Amino acid sequence: MSSPIESVLWNDWFPVARSQNLIAGSLISVTLFETEVVIWRAHSGALMAWTDRCPHRSVKLSSGKVEGDTLVCSYHGMVYDCRGQCIKVPAHPNFLPSSAAIVQSYRVNEQYGLIFICLGNPQKSIAPFPEWKNSNFVTVLCGSYSIPCSGLRAIENFLDLSHLAIVHRGRLGVPDQASISDYTVTTDEDGVHIEDASLWQPDPMGDGCGSTVHYNYWIISPLTAYLRKTTSTNHSLSILLWATPTSQESCLGWMLMSVHSSVSTDESALEAFQDAIVQQDIEVLANHSLKRLPLETQLEFHVQSDRGSIAYRKWLKTLGVSYGTM
Ligand code: FES
Ligand SMILES: [Fe+2]
Repeated sequence: MSSPIESVLWNDWFPVARSQNLIAGSLISVTLFETEVVIWRAHSGALMAWTDRCPHRSVKLSSGKVEGDTLVCSYHGMVYDCRGQCIKVPAHPNFLPSSAAIVQSYRVNEQYGLIFICLGNPQKSIAPFPEWKNSNFVTVLCGSYSIPCSGLRAIENFLDLSHLAIVHRGRLGVPDQASISDYTVTTDEDGVHIEDASLWQPDPMGDGCGSTVHYNYWIISPLTAYLRKTTSTNHSLSILLWATPTSQESCLGWMLMSVHSSVSTDESALEAFQDAIVQQDIEVLANHSLKRLPLETQLEFHVQSDRGSIAYRKWLKTLGVSYGTM
């Protein structure tokens, strides 16, 4: 299907739900790029992602129900099999509909305890998270967080070092030590890399131990970014963030966060730590008067420590991204 949305976004994978929230025989409705999608799990365990519209009279299929390995529409009771084909019409029990009576389906996948969908044709795998299978790390799944601005703004905020000492003061920085040392920025075919940034943080890991912390980012795709920060005692905390775009001015943030097990194994404390940080970010993101990310540099002014953001914006421009920008 051709889309008005640039292929680099349309063909990407985005998390839309936690796997545990979709048991066999259930369905949920999600939104991606303003497109309503019904996700349902058959009793066999097969997972489907379809446009949330019955091709008969356009009622939302998410108002229907899963029966065995079929989805039944709530309006005229038409029955759709796992391919999306209508296989039963209650008003005409002996009639088999043509192949035109089919629901549009999308790619769906499960990884990291999350359900991912792609509305286009995926060109890459779901983003890697090396800590996921590393037994030396404890990983928690955080989110989703409802964020009232473009997902691109949310990613840029994730890369933004100079707000840490101000917005997250007492945890990720202190205002009287807010200066940001220079760091390296490179852009290549894998994305944007921001490396060797360092700053002092009173509580970088959520365990209350202050340290100078080295930050390394990898922006994997326009709405997916990875961070690894390392303390002076060589403990690391990693985050993989997706900003799943629900519209041009709203997104859902999903995060995988890992810490070395010698730092903490208390998953609920780690999740609470991250929830508190993200809540502070959401308050700032909600206060942006421009909800979309300006790619024209003159709309906002920039300083030396914004070099990572500037590289991100330039890269988005090179990729031809316009959804969520201005
Ligand atoms: S609208 Fe779905 S069966 Fe008629
Ligand atoms: Fe932040």
